[in-house]
Amino acid sequence: MRILFLGPPAAGKGTQAKMLQERTNVSLLVMGDILREAIQKQDEAGKELEKYVKQGVLVPDPLVIQIIMHRLELTEKSSPGFLLDGFPRTIQQAQALEKAMQEKNWRLDYVIYYKLEDALAIERIAGRRVCKKCNSIYHIKYNPPKQENICDSCNGELFQRSDDKEDVMKTRLSAYYEKTMPLLSYYKGKGILIEINANNTIEKVSEETLKYLKIF
Ligand code: AP5
Repeated sequence: MRILFLGPPAAGKGTQAKMLQERTNVSLLVMGDILREAIQKQDEAGKELEKYVKQGVLVPDPLVIQIIMHRLELTEKSSPGFLLDGFPRTIQQAQALEKAMQEKNWRLDYVIYYKLEDALAIERIAGRRVCKKCNSIYHIKYNPPKQENICDSCNGELFQRSDDKEDVMKTRLSAYYEKTMPLLSYYKGKGILIEINANNTIEKVSEETLKYLKIF
């Protein structure tokens, strides 16, 4: 199974991709987490990536394409298939992925698009908390941890992402509309786009996703 997750910032891509991964055991790659891990190293490459992520603009295509292709190859070697959240985000990225997949004979099954209004995305961003250790995602109102600021899965400390600020969020939304939205017609044209209303509870969105994928 090979699935891409698309949608505006805070639509719930990460939340749903993780739930699907737990259900199917297919490897999950999260572009944002991969970039944040690289940034944490604070080496030259990490500092370069940080410049973009901090501002909420997209990292240049050649950089992200190189990073993700390497990770996809490693993933496929250990077990075929992937759930990919956060890549591609531009037509150039989509074309690079398609070319690599054709060369390797990997078939893309679905692209899941979570649709959400900006106002709700901004509300979700403000309440998001992420585990420093295992990247589990919480929301202070919609998906709170059992113990305040402590991860249910690994007891790690929760934090607020530095790009989850209102001004940076506006830039991220603009990048989404300008660069990522065109991917919807791109994948619709290929007949593999599934559109899901993300303005529902986490459980309901998950149910809808499983229904479309025919996973029960
Ligand atoms: P990235 O980390 O991918 O950020 P994003 O796309 O903005 O997506 P988010 O992680 O913010 O949201 P999500 O949809 O995963 O929502 P989540 O499940 O967390 O990218 C960050 C940056 O990296 C980019 O700005 C860019 O600079 C760079 N980058 C990444 N990929 C790149 C690429 N391909 N090319 C170039 N640059 C790239 O949910 C959000 C919150 O809502 C959580 O608190 C959650 O608990 C809650 N929630 C989820 N679902 C629901 C629900 N149904 N109801 C209520 N609350 C919910």
